[in-house]
Amino acid sequence: MDETHDGRTTREGIRIHEAADFSGMHKAGRVAAGILDEIAQHVFVGQNTAEIDRIITDLVAQAGAKSATIGYRGYQHASCISVNHVVCHGIPGAKTLKNGDILNIDVTVIVDGWYGDTSRMYVAGDIPRKAERLVQVTYDALMLGIEAVRPGNTFGDIGHAIQSYVESQRMSVVRDFCGHGLGRVFHAPPNVLHYGRPGHGPRLEEGMFFTIEPMVNLGRPETKILADDWTAVTRDKSLSAQFEHSIGVTATGFEIFTLSPAGRFHPTWG
Ligand code: MF3
Ligand code: CO
Ligand code: CO
Repeated sequence: MDETHDGRTTREGIRIHEAADFSGMHKAGRVAAGILDEIAQHVFVGQNTAEIDRIITDLVAQAGAKSATIGYRGYQHASCISVNHVVCHGIPGAKTLKNGDILNIDVTVIVDGWYGDTSRMYVAGDIPRKAERLVQVTYDALMLGIEAVRPGNTFGDIGHAIQSYVESQRMSVVRDFCGHGLGRVFHAPPNVLHYGRPGHGPRLEEGMFFTIEPMVNLGRPETKILADDWTAVTRDKSLSAQFEHSIGVTATGFEIFTLSPAGRFHPTWG
């Protein structure tokens, strides 16, 4: 591919983007987030996840965007849909949602060459109190991680903010998957760990674009991959939740590219 090489890359291989690149990311992020807004009305008891993915495929096309996941390392769907103890990379299929299920829907689109990657939790029917707590803690963990984003802080500060909060709530942070740099590519350096130590890891600089996407388990943090080579589940079968935003580092802090246009990022907001 013919990539342009304006801007620079840090010694850790992290691209520093130009001020003008932020608008491309905002546009891609808004499309991805708008699809997650639209899909909420299609999540209900008795619905199957293949149908949700089919609707997402249509929404991506209607937006004039391209799915980043279809064809990615052989993946064939426009979304990952991870129900209950599925941690991430759940493959949409015939299984129907039942009352009390919680699910993450993760969508990545390409708009004018820029990648927008975001995921949220959804619920089917009435969910148990402990599931509600898990979803809330995971959302708050993502936002605490984002609030640690400013030039001069480090990726370890982000991980530490997430890990210390999650563990204070007696839940665990998944180690086997992480956030990632993105921009005109889907997955780029650095690995954005959701655990860590203050002051450790690469230093944040204006112009870095990356995701933060903590996966939080009610039980132990260990995961395993099922025979389909994609689906990651908790080893102890405990419930897992995840939220993901794509963000950019500004001179004074951060901008979130994947904010919900409808103000519906959190499942309890409607
Ligand atoms: N959207 C996921 C992420 O947050 C990646 C999904 S790759 C797929 O990085 F192939 F499983 F879709
Ligand atoms: Co991601
Ligand atoms: Co994602």
